[in-house]
Amino acid sequence: MAQNPPKVEATVGSEEPRQKGKATPDTLKIGCIAMVTKDGVPRRAEILSIKQTRSGRQFYCNFDNFNKRLDEWVPVARIDFDQDVEWPNPEKDKLKEGKGKKGSTVSKKSHPKKSQKRPGKREQSVASASEVTTPRPTADTTESNQKLTPAEESQAQTPVNGEAVSTPAAGDEMEVDGQGARAGAAVAAAEPKRPETNGFSRQAEIEKLRTHGSMTQNPAEISRIRNISKVQFGKHDLFPWYFSPYPEAFGMEDVMYICEFCLGYYGDFKAFSRHRTKCTLQHPPGNEIYRDESVSFFEIDGRRQRTWCRNLCLLSKMFLDHKTLYYDVDPFLFYVMTVRDEKGFHLVGYFSKEKESADGYNVACILTLPQYQRKGYGRLLIQFSYELSKIEGKLGSPEKPLSDLGLLSYRQYWGENIIDLLVGFNERDEKVTIEHISTALSMTPQDVEHTLGALRMQIYHRGEHKIVIPEKLILQWEKQKTKKRRVIDPERIQWKPPVFTASSRTWGW
Ligand code: ACO
Ligand code: ZN
Repeated sequence: MAQNPPKVEATVGSEEPRQKGKATPDTLKIGCIAMVTKDGVPRRAEILSIKQTRSGRQFYCNFDNFNKRLDEWVPVARIDFDQDVEWPNPEKDKLKEGKGKKGSTVSKKSHPKKSQKRPGKREQSVASASEVTTPRPTADTTESNQKLTPAEESQAQTPVNGEAVSTPAAGDEMEVDGQGARAGAAVAAAEPKRPETNGFSRQAEIEKLRTHGSMTQNPAEISRIRNISKVQFGKHDLFPWYFSPYPEAFGMEDVMYICEFCLGYYGDFKAFSRHRTKCTLQHPPGNEIYRDESVSFFEIDGRRQRTWCRNLCLLSKMFLDHKTLYYDVDPFLFYVMTVRDEKGFHLVGYFSKEKESADGYNVACILTLPQYQRKGYGRLLIQFSYELSKIEGKLGSPEKPLSDLGLLSYRQYWGENIIDLLVGFNERDEKVTIEHISTALSMTPQDVEHTLGALRMQIYHRGEHKIVIPEKLILQWEKQKTKKRRVIDPERIQWKPPVFTASSRTWGW
């Protein structure tokens, strides 16, 4: 599995040569690739949309090697018209529509379950046929890639409140950011029909989002362009990263107001203020199943709290590009993490989980709201999902594909927990297999293998597969241990795995 460092895929243009030539602000059109300045550096960028504003024409650009969350509207002055632009190739682009972009995992996997990676023969034999040992820490025999690659490192500068500077997208051999699972369009479905543009009607587009999931792959304009520019949410201003199918009219507003408790949305401040005087909710509408000094978790049934859960999905879609669900929330439970103060329980993040996952997923979508990111809350959400799996006596894994940030966070969690465990085995001088690790941490053997591979912890020595902990990793692990970290105390979880009848897992009108 992931033996190679993550690679950065080009994100604009295709492999096919394009016609080049000079353009002017008036002739530059959607689909062109031009040199556009971003943070003072000229970069290749694809024009995804054009609009006329009071201050002149603006072009919505997706930059080569940058995650879509860093797409932006740029004025004419930032485009270098002295250089040739690459004109779109209509024939090729049409073909591309059907196939998805280069480097994506889309292809024709219209059913999410098919995208789940099952253990290959090799993976299973490593775990079962050979004994795996953890020798005492020795000199580092292999180079660790625990250190972030340039692509990952640059993500560290990224996206709190959209003020990111540069974030080339990370790739990896584990499925990342390809076709999504489910998607829906509760709100947009109620909207008036718009005329077809480029052969895509809005309704067809929405349907495509609903059934195909991936926003990234969708060729039509609507899904590729951030529609909401600013959200006021409690005391925070949020700057969305991606498109979310709120009613079209909200795209015209400078600010959208979301009630942080019921998640209702308003385009008008007066209407929102009126709502706030009436809204009595002070916590997510479910049972509190965990409380410690800093956070509480609530369990919410998508079927019982459809509106709230759909609103949560619409909100989270603004920060999740590759998959989400907005409409069909019935088959899911939502585990919502909050922080408390005198005003109530404030939403920090959540993960959704299928009531019954045929593939053994313990997380469908996971999100920390941007204002709380990089503070250790994502780790808490991930730990919580595994604590629930432990109570269920099951192995769990997040639904694939993972986003770039999802992969970084999971890898960190998996790596840290595996090393924690192995150090214990090592101190007791015990032998350990991949199955041991998998059972102890409720992780699937594939995820254990993936992590061992990514951290270069597996070696083949004298006919045996062995697990080693490179010294570099031990040093990093010791350093991490000195940091004060948020953790879930499993003793405080008050939860029994819920049992559902077949009918309550689906949505029946
Ligand atoms: N750059 C580099 N490393 C990162 C970054 C980043 N931007 N974000 C997380 N990490 C890694 C780090 O190793 C970090 O540990 P450290 O801070 O000690 O170095 C570790 O992940 C955990 O970080 P947390 O602070 O606990 O995670 P956070 O609260 O920021 O949440 C999450 C992570 C949920 C992925 C968040 O980034 C998010 O909501 N992103 C948008 C939505 C998304 O992509 N979700 C995952 C989709 S995959 C799926 O749904 C199954
Ligand atoms: Zn409200």
